Amino acid sequence: MQFFKKKQLSEVRESAGKSGLIKSLGAVDLIFLGLGGIIGTGIFVLTGLAAAQYAGPAITVSFLVGGIACVFTALAFAELASMLPVSGSAYSYAQVTVGEGISMLVGWTIVMVFSFGSATVASGWSGYVLGILDSAGVRLPEVLTKIPAEGGWINLPAVFIVVLLTAIVFRGTQGATRFNGVLVVVKLLAIFLFIFLSVPHIDMKNWVNFAPNGFDGIAAGAAVIFMAYTGFDAVATAAEECKNPNRDLPIGIIGSLVGSAILYIIVSGLLTSIAPYSKLNNPQPMAFALRENGISLGATLVATGAIAGMTTVILTQIFAQARILMMMARDGLLPQCFESIHPKYATPHVGLMFSGCFVVLIAGFLPVSTLGQISSMATLLVFGFVSLAVMILRYTRPDERRPFRCPAVYLTATLSCGLCLFLFSQLFWVNWKPYLLTTLLGLITYLVYGYWHSKARLRTTAG
Ligand code: ALA
Repeated sequence: MQFFKKKQLSEVRESAGKSGLIKSLGAVDLIFLGLGGIIGTGIFVLTGLAAAQYAGPAITVSFLVGGIACVFTALAFAELASMLPVSGSAYSYAQVTVGEGISMLVGWTIVMVFSFGSATVASGWSGYVLGILDSAGVRLPEVLTKIPAEGGWINLPAVFIVVLLTAIVFRGTQGATRFNGVLVVVKLLAIFLFIFLSVPHIDMKNWVNFAPNGFDGIAAGAAVIFMAYTGFDAVATAAEECKNPNRDLPIGIIGSLVGSAILYIIVSGLLTSIAPYSKLNNPQPMAFALRENGISLGATLVATGAIAGMTTVILTQIFAQARILMMMARDGLLPQCFESIHPKYATPHVGLMFSGCFVVLIAGFLPVSTLGQISSMATLLVFGFVSLAVMILRYTRPDERRPFRCPAVYLTATLSCGLCLFLFSQLFWVNWKPYLLTTLLGLITYLVYGYWHSKARLRTTAG
């Protein structure tokens, strides 16, 4: 049955060679792409809220727990990306493990991850920039900064940043990764500055009530900050633009995730030791904590770095979603125009414009909580699927060449898969309607378009 028809690994690899994308990225570019996609709203915005409302100073432990879970998933991702270095990421892994129909749903889910994820961060970006403008005495009319459900017309700053970054990604991968690199340096400097300025102000009295809500608080904190770790998956979508993908993809994926996890644990530990956790329920917790200690200039610099951080997350996610659309079009599951590469800029331009317009629509008009929940649910499903896929391929293709092997694969992948599905179920019951609706749209697209235009099906019927 076509729905379950799988592709051969060799078929997927061969198609990657014909994409027309330029192979310009090395390991360092990929680590920067990963850091660009990972470090953003999670650490700069959510840490304070999660500490104040749930975990207390034990938010550091929440970051450790979340980091370990994501490292398990990243190891699975790294094995699959090194075996199948194609831009489709989990979509392509689904093509070879569970067949066409499910792969369409996985691809659709990844597009949801990146589109709803970038829209969530664009809304956070808008809030942050408006906060800074407000403190400088500049106020935009409310109708242009609020969505209709909040009494406004449109979240214009969120729309602005999405349009700007789509244009940058449109004009070429090298330019976009260079721009991303500069902003990643700015956000890393902001984090190092925060660490440097905080150390002299550590006051262990702030850690006396370390875990005010015990284990439950730490677990709830881990669920809230889980988003801080997502984004490393975008590295896999750059596979066809890598000079040496077998070696560099695992380095990019694992390097960027482990680097971020270390920074998160240090920052959250310092944050809760320089200010009482109960005061951190604030959208700019790091800047707030520095101001509490009389470091105003440092606070402003860190807030600027946070804006750079969120910008790179949006850029990376827009970059990634166009490549997933391209891969689905390559298989005939979406219209061919998504596969077309711009003759001058060598980017998947139609997919980029489509992604940009879709993200503008949802970021401009939908509430950030709905956007965030859909993106988190989609991420957890994709992570869960990747952990499953690595085990399926170990079982069905034990002798296939694996430039990188996930250690203790059945243990780490089972833990990662179980944890992701558990967290997914927690979020699903809170807000299942919009999630199910978006997934149904994917299924309908497959039944109405993908099935009939699937290149694999057309080849079989012609043969
Ligand atoms: N990990 C990304 C962030 O925290 C999505 O903004």
